[in-house]
Amino acid sequence: MYAIDLSGKHGLVLGIANEHSIAWPIAEILNAAGAKLAITYQNERLGSRVSKLTNSFNDPLLIECDVTQDDSIDTAFNTIKQEMGSLDFVIHSIAYADRDDLQGNFSDVSRENFLMSLNISAYSLIPIVKQASKLMPNGGSVIAMTFQASERVFPGYNVMGTAKSALENEIKQLSYEYGIDNIRINGISAGPLETLASRGISGFPDMRKIHAEKAPLKRNITHKEVATTSLFLASDLSSGITGTIIHVDGGFHVMAV
Ligand SMILES: NC(=O)c1ccc[n+]([C@@H]2O[C@H](COP(=O)([O-])OP(=O)(O)OC[C@H]3O[C@@H](n4cnc5c(N)ncnc54)[C@H](O)[C@@H]3O)[C@@H](O)[C@H]2O)c1
Repeated sequence: MYAIDLSGKHGLVLGIANEHSIAWPIAEILNAAGAKLAITYQNERLGSRVSKLTNSFNDPLLIECDVTQDDSIDTAFNTIKQEMGSLDFVIHSIAYADRDDLQGNFSDVSRENFLMSLNISAYSLIPIVKQASKLMPNGGSVIAMTFQASERVFPGYNVMGTAKSALENEIKQLSYEYGIDNIRINGISAGPLETLASRGISGFPDMRKIHAEKAPLKRNITHKEVATTSLFLASDLSSGITGTIIHVDGGFHVMAV
């Protein structure tokens, strides 16, 4: 389908909840490129859905992994080690905030909810990279999903903006720490896409409308465009790129008005 061949490569995809998840077309394209995939799901309920979605894949390894639990992360990586031996790339496509915190005033967020959002959406990248690095003796590529609210204010995005700032800073610090091992860590800053997570953001339809009007490409991006960029970043074609946030947003981020 595309001229990137990932045959013989092993990858891990975290963050498929349903067919609208950004991680879903990413997994589809990586599987079609020939990679063998480990795919995690957050809980049993989502597990049966992920199992149905991936039943035409090339023998995927499906594993439960709740990133708020160290044991769950350890068990997932032990299973990957036993079943696959090594990893070449990881897709981190996980975020969560309470619906109430994705509307109204940013400063109304409670300490508990702030820590929960940052725990799931930002901290989780650290143990995942640490564990994955042990399975990447020849180097590898880690790709995390972010959003431009890390740098600018998108009303309604609130605490998730703080989480994305933290995530992007981690991408830079981890790229420095693991660069010596030829492990590259990059982020994709996607334009607004309709998914389960984005449905919870107040004013999201307006956000998409404004993006389409203002972006240089004069349209919203597609899930597939995030998937093809992920394919490039997972492959050796991007071997010189690390610590970078690639904007897949039709150019929206360059506009001031
Ligand atoms: N949709 C957008 O407009 C958009 C834009 C830019 C970036 N992103 C980012 O893309 C990523 C994927 O989000 P999405 O829009 O596809 O929504 P989604 O709801 O389909 O995906 C979020 C995923 O996070 C997982 N998750 C939440 N808590 C978890 C936990 N404790 N343990 C393990 N997994 C957990 C969910 O199970 C789900 O699979 C997120 O990082 C999101 O911030 C989304």
